Amino acid sequence: MALCYFLLMVFFSLLSSGADARVITLQNKCNNTIWPAFQVGSGLYNAHGEIDGGFELRPGESVNVTAEDYAFIWGRNGCSFNQSGHGTCITGDCGGVLRCGEASQSLIPILPVTYAMMYLHEFVPDFYAVSVHNGFNLPISILPYGSPAAECKTSSCFTNLNQICPNELQVRSNGSIVACMSPCLAFNKPEFCCARGRLHIPEYPDNDDCKPTNYSVAFEAGCPTASTTAALELSKASVCWRANYLISFC
Ligand SMILES: *[C@@H]1O[C@H](CO)[C@@H](O)[C@H](O)[C@H]1NC(C)=O
Ligand SMILES: *[C@@H]1O[C@H](CO)[C@@H](O)[C@H](O)[C@H]1NC(C)=O
Ligand SMILES: *[C@@H]1O[C@H](CO)[C@@H](O)[C@H](O)[C@H]1NC(C)=O
Ligand SMILES: *[C@@H]1O[C@H](CO)[C@@H](O)[C@H](O)[C@H]1NC(C)=O
Ligand SMILES: *[C@@H]1O[C@H](CO)[C@@H](O)[C@H](O)[C@H]1NC(C)=O
Repeated sequence: MALCYFLLMVFFSLLSSGADARVITLQNKCNNTIWPAFQVGSGLYNAHGEIDGGFELRPGESVNVTAEDYAFIWGRNGCSFNQSGHGTCITGDCGGVLRCGEASQSLIPILPVTYAMMYLHEFVPDFYAVSVHNGFNLPISILPYGSPAAECKTSSCFTNLNQICPNELQVRSNGSIVACMSPCLAFNKPEFCCARGRLHIPEYPDNDDCKPTNYSVAFEAGCPTASTTAALELSKASVCWRANYLISFC
């Protein structure tokens, strides 16, 4: 009976991490521990099984996960969790838990966060972009590897936007700037809030007709290959046929 159950679980995990899954290598190049977190369309797996929305990644450490469907990945920093995975993070916190998928639906991070969005479907090319549409906390880059195709471009926000963040957008903790708000988040006015972006954040106003602002221009200059507004999220996405992806933080 137990063996049957085990075989069934193996079968289902093979199904769900099937031939179409891409390898995503997460690498922490920051000087401090970070806690990557995820909203995913279907399961995200590492060598030990399904990852329920987040884990700890020490400086210099790399972890491979496999993903398919879609994945939004962000980084949390300054976290402390107790034995049962409850606690807080200075940025990117998802409901005070280590595993952002814990509540059976993915938890939304406290903004601002930089995030990597990836669409990894069957029969169509992958597309992906680093987005600072919901603000910035940590530098992230997405580097495709293992595909010969030349169109597979890096998307990144590698400039530390915290260092150029204007006063009115700064998020501070203990005196230092830990994140930089998007102007939509800071001012909550239609002229700063384009379409709300792919990371599902229900409470912000929508406006498809949005013009560049001095803030979006500054973000764009700092991170030219990242999406700075939701309107740009899809148009700026890179397209690549079946690669694996290195996502590095810092
Ligand atoms: C890590 O620390 C070193 C030495 O203080 C510094 O030069 C480097 O810029 C830091 N790296 C990051 C990603 O913050
Ligand atoms: C991750 O996967 C890549 C390619 O599939 C492999 O080259 C690399 O060694 C793996 N890294 C780890 C940390 O397992
Ligand atoms: C961890 O923190 C949560 C929330 O504060 C608490 O309910 C839980 O009992 C704590 N668990 C442990 C093992 O300390
Ligand atoms: C703030 O700074 C103090 C003193 O350096 C330190 O003890 C405390 O842990 C810091 N708090 C946070 C949230 O980083
Ligand atoms: C951006 O424009 C606003 C008015 O829309 C102004 O108040 C603010 O000072 C400007 N900020 C920068 C950094 O230029």
